[in-house]
Amino acid sequence: MNGPVSARFVHKTFTFESHDGTLPLTVSIPEVLDLQYGMYVWPCAVVLAQYVWIAKEKLQKKSVLELGAGVSLPGVVAAKCGAQVILSDSAELPLCQNNCKQSCEVNDVDSVTVVGLTWGQVSPELLSLPLVDVILGSDVFYEPEDFEDVLVTISFLLKRNPYAQFWTTYQERSTDWSVEALLHKWNLKCIDIPLETFHANRNQLAGSALPGDHTIQMMIVTAKSKT
Ligand SMILES: C[S@@+](CC[C@H](N)C(=O)[O-])C[C@H]1O[C@@H](n2cnc3c(N)ncnc32)[C@H](O)[C@@H]1O
Repeated sequence: MNGPVSARFVHKTFTFESHDGTLPLTVSIPEVLDLQYGMYVWPCAVVLAQYVWIAKEKLQKKSVLELGAGVSLPGVVAAKCGAQVILSDSAELPLCQNNCKQSCEVNDVDSVTVVGLTWGQVSPELLSLPLVDVILGSDVFYEPEDFEDVLVTISFLLKRNPYAQFWTTYQERSTDWSVEALLHKWNLKCIDIPLETFHANRNQLAGSALPGDHTIQMMIVTAKSKT
């Protein structure tokens, strides 16, 4: 049930259905009544969280980092599925980092850590990250002037973790937008993951109408060469 819990927060509940006989997973995400991007669950987050849920066997005890996490639905689902999770949002947006913490508290995932990471910046926080297996990013390609910064950070992380993968969902907001040339420039390659392969080709997902009729795509980015 969705409803107000305080003057500032509204909790949204998502239930990921089982397709393999295991129990469904319900998580509750507090959204903040504010105009900043990182305060709400975006449609892409529901789709990425569904991918994480379907891939849960692969994530057991793996190290997962979420970039631009905002209210952190995919990262929280990864933590609930047994991954060791680090959530991050812009170092300049401490309120968004607070949202990451708030989502963890509400869902009792206390082993999760939260750091400030700004795309494109090689900061002490980025340098001191542990090794990671999977990087998550939902709706981080929404502002074309930031695309290269996101990929600079991914390229840096994949140099340190050559076999890691970047799982990302994005919303097609303009047919002119493309990351193809930037992937090439930063020694990266991608494969598209059709939504139907993880039961996400629906307007209604995890009990939420958020995906609606948005055109959401999923891709996995890896290093082109492992050196
Ligand atoms: C469209 S929201 C998506 C939030 C969340 N991933 C989701 O899908 O619900 C973009 C997120 O990126 C974060 N962000 C924006 N610019 C950033 C930057 N330069 N470095 C790191 N994070 C940034 C915002 O604070 C926000 O949480």
